[in-house]
Amino acid sequence: MSRILVLPGDGIGPEIVDEALRVLDAAQARFGLDIELDHGLVGGAACDAEGDPLPEGTLEKARAADAILFGSIGGPKWDTLERDKRPERGLLRLRSSLGLFANLRPAILFPQLAGASSLKPEVVSGLDILIVRELTGGIYFGQPRGIKEENGERVGFNTYVYSESEMKRIARVAFDLAMQRGKRVCSVDKANVLEVTELWKEVVTEEAKAYPEIELSHMYVDNAAMQLVRAPKNFDVIVTGNLFGDILSDEAAMLTGSIGMLPSASLDENRKGLYEPCHGSAPDIAGQGLANPLATIMSLAMLMRYSLQRGDVADAIEAAVEKVLDQGLRTADIHTEGTRKVSTGEMGAAVAEALANG
Ligand code: IPM
Ligand code: MG
Repeated sequence: MSRILVLPGDGIGPEIVDEALRVLDAAQARFGLDIELDHGLVGGAACDAEGDPLPEGTLEKARAADAILFGSIGGPKWDTLERDKRPERGLLRLRSSLGLFANLRPAILFPQLAGASSLKPEVVSGLDILIVRELTGGIYFGQPRGIKEENGERVGFNTYVYSESEMKRIARVAFDLAMQRGKRVCSVDKANVLEVTELWKEVVTEEAKAYPEIELSHMYVDNAAMQLVRAPKNFDVIVTGNLFGDILSDEAAMLTGSIGMLPSASLDENRKGLYEPCHGSAPDIAGQGLANPLATIMSLAMLMRYSLQRGDVADAIEAAVEKVLDQGLRTADIHTEGTRKVSTGEMGAAVAEALANG
């Protein structure tokens, strides 16, 4: 039996997670999966109920689970709370407490959506890149951090720090994944300015020696941001630190037409994982049936592949998504002329049905 903890969160989180659960039901029926679901509060919803974006009870459930299906968190309602109580901190603490250091963000352009990208179809068609983002270190977690008074004015500060072991393990994840695809890894740094990333570049280069088949390249982050819109298909796997990965993955998301299409996996050393769409909680469209549930549904596919070792189920879910796109169904964010605009629920139901019918 596998245990999945469901954490819907805020904004559009609950509605997109509901659709992923509908697809999970269909997967259970078709493949006879033995799964026990648990539910918990996180983010603003947890702040409202328990005054903490990651209550102890949720963390305990997360530790007990084999995998976590996560919606999205945050919203203007909680932006004025004291910093440690804000929804985002709940997610960061969850990633860090569970040691989910490897964040996999695939940016794949479905041929059906080539017209929805803001780039020319010939630049993006066939795009298939994987961003491997370090998720529990770097400037997101470095100490000291804060805002203080100095010489009569306020000063804000953060610390950008990575240990060698943190760099090594994320490099190995990237190399291992690249071995299963194009065997090319581009390590993104800012080694011309920042010592941390000078060491990053050195360590990644050393680790690559154990992977003679991998073609390793290095790129400064500003150039990488540019190349991603100039010639994104030149990339296979990108490995980078927490902050650069956060920024580049949003950029890569847009290449695929909509950030509503990007799933993610955050894995620990043993492939326990948290699975969430790359997008935020979009409070402006919450509750209106406008949200695209596909990133969450494809996050469920990643959950099957990485934490439950059911690549067959993952393939079937992804095929069901393709089928529905082939049928011309589109949520508002990816809708173009000549396709059929559907709601969050209609999209989820269509994928579940396609999955059930194999
Ligand atoms: C992401 C998000 C988070 C991050 C926020 C919500 C803390 O932007 O998962 O990319 O910065 O990691
Ligand atoms: Mg982000």
